[in-house]
Amino acid sequence: MKTSLTLCLLLLLTSCTSMMNHHRMKAAQRKMLATRTLQQAGQWEEALAMAERMQSSVTKSVTSAPKQKTATGVEIDLTPLLTAWEKGPLTELKAALQKKDATASTKAFTSLRQQCMSCHAVLGKTPPVVVSEIPN
Ligand code: HEC
Repeated sequence: MKTSLTLCLLLLLTSCTSMMNHHRMKAAQRKMLATRTLQQAGQWEEALAMAERMQSSVTKSVTSAPKQKTATGVEIDLTPLLTAWEKGPLTELKAALQKKDATASTKAFTSLRQQCMSCHAVLGKTPPVVVSEIPN
């Protein structure tokens, strides 16, 4: 009896973590689009703050469950992919926003989104994760 209760609780906890992550990733996507809206409106400081909130959503989601199984059943650690995302296009985007550079921002948004998708591609789930396009 006790064992099954513990098992139930464990199952519940695991599915909660997974639900939280889906929720956080969806939040990351909303914040990515919100960053773009603010940037296009010329609200550079707000855009930078929103980019940081997006980073926090992605980071929390990935670091809470860094080891994931790919579609082929191989366990991989997503930490290096997260670091590459942060050090590459995210840093580029933040720098562009700090410089209030619209052209560089647009370019950085495109590579940021591509690297969001690279991490999902490594997991290779079906149906694939769809990441919203960056509005022009
Ligand atoms: C280092 C890896 C990694 C990076 C970077 C990453 N994600 Fe994800 N994302 C995941 C994982 C893991 C899942 C869960 C996939 C699953 O279990 O099917 C996910 C799921 C999602 C989902 C689906 C959520 C749902 O439940 O419908 C969306 C949307 C998403 N990510 C958007 C983004 C966006 C936008 C970015 C970039 C701003 C991003 N992700 C960057 C790993 C990543």
